[in-house]
Amino acid sequence: MAGVYIHIPFCKKACHYCNFHFSTIKDHDEIINTIIQEIEINQKKISIKKISTIYFGGGTPSLVDTNSIKLILKSIQNKYDTSEKCEITLESNPDDISEKKLNSWKEIGINRLSVGIQSFNNSILKKLNRIHDNNQAKKSIKLIKKHFDNYSIDLMFGTPLSTIKSINEDLNIIKSFDPPHISIYNMTIEKKTMFEKQLKNNQLLLPNENEILEQYDLILKKLKSLDYENYEISNFSKKGLHSRHNSNYWNDKEYIGFGPSAHSYDKKYRYWNINKNKKYIDLINKNMMCFEKEKLTLKQKINEYIITRIRTNKGINNMEINKKYNVDFFEKKEPEIDMLLKRNLVSRKKQTLNLTDNGKKISDHITEKIMF
Ligand SMILES: C[S@@+](CC[C@H](N)C(=O)[O-])C[C@H]1O[C@@H](n2cnc3c(N)ncnc32)[C@H](O)[C@@H]1O
Ligand code: SF4
Repeated sequence: MAGVYIHIPFCKKACHYCNFHFSTIKDHDEIINTIIQEIEINQKKISIKKISTIYFGGGTPSLVDTNSIKLILKSIQNKYDTSEKCEITLESNPDDISEKKLNSWKEIGINRLSVGIQSFNNSILKKLNRIHDNNQAKKSIKLIKKHFDNYSIDLMFGTPLSTIKSINEDLNIIKSFDPPHISIYNMTIEKKTMFEKQLKNNQLLLPNENEILEQYDLILKKLKSLDYENYEISNFSKKGLHSRHNSNYWNDKEYIGFGPSAHSYDKKYRYWNINKNKKYIDLINKNMMCFEKEKLTLKQKINEYIITRIRTNKGINNMEINKKYNVDFFEKKEPEIDMLLKRNLVSRKKQTLNLTDNGKKISDHITEKIMF
């Protein structure tokens, strides 16, 4: 079944590593009303009826008042058949979490929270320009745990001050909370961020490649020992508690995105909304297209399957790729696969190719080798 993504483009301040689309304006109403308008007019004419997941991402959805989230949710529920068991996730920041907000989210139907912690180390949080500190991070998780069974914690490794020691400490704190789901991303240097500027000016020191690999290795080992399933390179969950919304992306399911910068996919086309708030509002008001789209070629579809599936524990299934795209992946990529098998970077069981733990550490390099 399909999913709906809503991009809420507001933050209190800019984190030094982040280039997601957001603005720090305080008046949110105009954008919220335009998102609702976009849902109602359904410009992309993607003909999805039933949806099984809704995801409020950002930016910082926890920052806007709950009534705005409720209005958006209502317009989605009016437009689409949301199955009874619809997973409804809201991304949040620790400084927005309070008993009152948690209760109000539950009341309107949010049943999964994702909280951006990034690190429990105060020096790292400061360096990242996060708005919260270690105490607020812990307090927010305690509160979330009290109100939500299904929640996820976002962390990062490979940040300027990350060390094996800081990652180990983060994981010990994680162990004490025992969350059902964790996403841990390797911090990348993105365009137009403060970190990119600092790096160019030789003002930023990052851990070297070996240190980053050691940090990831520790994460894999420790979370495995705590009974987490590493169901996608950066995602770990207790049994049965994976993110259904993100799994839909990785399993080639359709999704519709609303709001500035949101992406959509209907198996034939990819769509991306304009990422400028004012222009987005103007276009919707004038009933003009607020998005661009691209028709996917067969090669793009095959590569998309390879890129997403090799990152998941489902792996690349030769029968499936053959059935979907009429291509014998194992035959076409035999020399590359043999070389990767010899280096213990991938494993092959019958019709399925998976990354080994060693392979997960250099997944980009492996993906490049096996793409068409
Ligand atoms: C864009 S934020 C939105 C949610 C919320 N505002 C927050 O800060 O967590 C979602 C996640 O993206 C990840 N992220 C953003 N920029 C990143 C980067 N440069 N490298 C790796 N992960 C990044 C962070 O882990 C963050 O938790
Ligand atoms: S990481 Fe989250 S809070 Fe920080 S700038 Fe990006 S979207 Fe905003």
